[in-house]
Amino acid sequence: NKGKYEHYMQKEIHEQPESLRTTMRGRLIRGGSSKGKTVLLGGLKDHLKTIRRSRRIVFIGCGTSYNAALASRPIVEELSGIPVTLEIASDLVDRQGPIYREDTAIFVSQSGETADTLLALDYALENGALCVGITNTVGSAIARNTHCGVHINAGCEIGVASTKAYTSQIVVMAMVALAIGADTISNQGRREAIVDGLIDLPNKVKEVLKLDEEMNDLAKQLISEQSLLVFGRGYNYATALEGALKVKEVSLMHSEGILAGEMKHGPLALVDENLPIFVIATRDACFSKQQSVIQQLHARKGRLIVMCTEGDVASVSVGGSCRVVEVPRVEDCLQPVINIVPLQLLAYHLTVLRGYNVDQPRNLAKSVTTQ
Ligand code: F6R
Repeated sequence: NKGKYEHYMQKEIHEQPESLRTTMRGRLIRGGSSKGKTVLLGGLKDHLKTIRRSRRIVFIGCGTSYNAALASRPIVEELSGIPVTLEIASDLVDRQGPIYREDTAIFVSQSGETADTLLALDYALENGALCVGITNTVGSAIARNTHCGVHINAGCEIGVASTKAYTSQIVVMAMVALAIGADTISNQGRREAIVDGLIDLPNKVKEVLKLDEEMNDLAKQLISEQSLLVFGRGYNYATALEGALKVKEVSLMHSEGILAGEMKHGPLALVDENLPIFVIATRDACFSKQQSVIQQLHARKGRLIVMCTEGDVASVSVGGSCRVVEVPRVEDCLQPVINIVPLQLLAYHLTVLRGYNVDQPRNLAKSVTTQ
């Protein structure tokens, strides 16, 4: 049931404040004044000791689910102190890459039925790793065949392009990071700030959804472009990849997410006055580096659209010469949840304006059960 919406993708984008609330329901608790605020993940609690002792955490997934793991890697590394690597499921299986008994392998999948991810799960089980599932589908193959896990509880996602599952996956992985890090005193202040940030996140997502009209307007400007580049780094490298994936899979416009730190190692050659470039430059430890990327793209006459933190227009717009999208600021590790929303809206509006099928893009299936 689409309710007041025309398409499932549109409905699922707009229901993210609620889906995120459901994802967090009953899982963030105030453990009394001395203990502060913590996280309770029932499906993980008996395995946390093993996870904390593991030599490595490996996230495994495909498409959007992989991007969600990429968005969460920095906070999992920071709070766990354990090295974190990422694997695209098919590539791990193609390479028969090393997986050890001392590894924790975390499988991220909305459907819980993706063939590539399931094959990677069989492979990790054979190699003796502790296997954790993060899925949206109770009773799915990945939920059943892993040793333990967390359901994201985002509610049924019908649009082929994953939107609300992505933001809920990031929130669950941030909670997993909090749970793994919960036995260390040194980062307690940071953990409490993240819990506060999580509690307020649905309100901030509601605010960023007000950009709907603005993104429709931007889509009108971009409607007949051949291509769109999206630059991000740090916490928002994943936002660049995921934003570009949304644009290409539904609007059928070529789009590429690029790690801004790699700009000079090739992509800069593409820049001219015609190619639109979306730069994510919200406030975090990488902000000044992104400012200098904007300067350099501007110096090559790049056609820039910049996403920045509210109130930062003057710091990013190179003398008012580029279009700016302002978003609310949240705790740095949660910022990818906010920043993807305008790009989801852009992909949605581009698709409607270009006259393509939003909920069922050609050639794609919601659950990819074949290799
Ligand atoms: C993109 C998209 C796909 C899926 C991928 C993995 O919007 O939907 O890239 O993310 O096929 O699917 P799950 O998460 O079900 O394993």
